[in-house]
Amino acid sequence: MHNLKTHWENIYETKPESDFSWFQPYPQTSVDFINLFKLPKTASIIDIGGGDSHLVDALLELGYSDITMLDISAKSIERTKVRLGEKASAVTWIEKNIVDFEPQRMYDFWHDRAAFHFLTAEIQIIKYLAIVKQGIKSGGHLVLGTFSDKGPNQCSGLEIRQYTEASMSALFEKEFRRIKCIEETHITPHNTQQNFVFCSFQRTPTPIL
Ligand SMILES: C[S@@+](CC[C@H](N)C(=O)[O-])C[C@H]1O[C@@H](n2cnc3c(N)ncnc32)[C@H](O)[C@@H]1O
Repeated sequence: MHNLKTHWENIYETKPESDFSWFQPYPQTSVDFINLFKLPKTASIIDIGGGDSHLVDALLELGYSDITMLDISAKSIERTKVRLGEKASAVTWIEKNIVDFEPQRMYDFWHDRAAFHFLTAEIQIIKYLAIVKQGIKSGGHLVLGTFSDKGPNQCSGLEIRQYTEASMSALFEKEFRRIKCIEETHITPHNTQQNFVFCSFQRTPTPIL
């Protein structure tokens, strides 16, 4: 049986970051969302499927002090720790499959670029929704980036689920207020194009019954 963790460990063991189609030297779109929400520097931030993304570097550079990175791959975490050097100790690292994540706290800001779209089965998507609900504070923000309906239908050799602004919003709008969606054409290190949709949401207060 194909093992998801083995798949990702293998990728991070064998390839340099410049080979990854999703590689960005600077995660400008994600940082733009953070600036839009005017997150205080003490905000608790979690990056789901962070891999060896440079978002954590950017957040540390911007002065954020409460950063958590979650990824299924231990190797990706190790690579990021090596890149960060001493600064790595300021970050909380969680090696976990997102669908098995049981948040021990609630976050102000939940970020996911190109991890959620690997959940193709309905049951996994429902699970993710429940975990997001558990893990984001009332008034907290969520930013999700996935391939759009104009983007690829695979990523890293795995099937993905494409979203549009409407389909992503429909999934989350029960618990979240949509704030802003954008489409972005990501240029890969191999000079090909991938169309993404990014939506941001704010967690609405849980009604008191
Ligand atoms: C396409 S990469 C994107 C990495 C990073 N977010 C970025 O934008 O550069 C997908 C990442 O999600 C992680 N991932 C895939 N499925 C996952 C899951 N079920 N739980 C946790 N992480 C997962 C992979 O290990 C990988 O690091």
